[in-house]
Amino acid sequence: MNRALPVSGAPQARRQPLRGDQLGMIMRALRTHAGIKVDSSRGMIESCLHQRMAQVGAASIDDYLARFDDSINARAEWLALVDMLTVKETRFFRQRAALDCAADYVGKLFARGPAPSELSFWSAGCSTGQELYSLAMVVEQQLRGRQPWLEWHGIGTDISFEAIHTAQQGLYDERAIASLAQPYRDDHLEAAGAGQWRVSATIRARTHFFHSNLLHVNSAPFCDFNIVYCQNVLIYFERDKQRWIIDQLAERLRGGGLLILGAGEDVRWLNSSMRRLQWPGVCAYTKTGG
Ligand SMILES: C[S@@+](CC[C@H](N)C(=O)[O-])C[C@H]1O[C@@H](n2cnc3c(N)ncnc32)[C@H](O)[C@@H]1O
Repeated sequence: MNRALPVSGAPQARRQPLRGDQLGMIMRALRTHAGIKVDSSRGMIESCLHQRMAQVGAASIDDYLARFDDSINARAEWLALVDMLTVKETRFFRQRAALDCAADYVGKLFARGPAPSELSFWSAGCSTGQELYSLAMVVEQQLRGRQPWLEWHGIGTDISFEAIHTAQQGLYDERAIASLAQPYRDDHLEAAGAGQWRVSATIRARTHFFHSNLLHVNSAPFCDFNIVYCQNVLIYFERDKQRWIIDQLAERLRGGGLLILGAGEDVRWLNSSMRRLQWPGVCAYTKTGG
């Protein structure tokens, strides 16, 4: 007897489950290429994998994984997969206390001795830009009435191409700006139609976003920052890599500069050129000298 076919179109293709050895290979490669451990559920990883397989036309998981050889294309494909698997959660003014600490640092630059001629800061692992833009708004606010001519610039870096692209647009919807207080909205956002808001041209002209992997931070051309911000990123790295990255970030600070990590992210880090700052709820260090 012939079994009846489903009446509505072709039968649904069953999604191939991700085997343990395949999952292991992906986890190992994520550690090698991005230095990170992904703690998403197996189902989540499987679903990202199938989405990517559909985009590149891979017939099976084995077929997709076979593409990962030593070629340049394989490296690009890993980055695409990392992009899908990394957590990019962020928001404006995510940690108010850390921004207050940064504002205090900028204020004190003017109080101590001759005023600086320029100011620079870096948001490492900036996701879709809200962290760098928040810092830029706070700096702008601090400079008002002091030295409006002072040159400042901020850079944001992230391993995710998609996040960097969004950050560069500086375009956010109502939901994304919900955590931004009204005075900051009034001063630093421009209505862009259809419930969209763009970060002001003044801020965008002084903020730049680049794709960069923190695992290769030692070869990145960034240095001499007054403030380095790295929050909610280190948690994805192995302990020895976390400490190595913080050392690298500290090295890229000017004397007297400020390093801000996520609250509880200091991983018992010690560095002879850095002094822990006492600021409630904030994990911050200042660099000696300067
Ligand atoms: C949870 S978000 C944090 C965003 C922002 N710092 C904040 O606190 O709101 C973590 C970000 O780290 C980025 N990231 C993960 N691994 C990275 C790596 N190896 N190099 C650079 N960025 C990385 C992710 O793409 C993601 O955008």
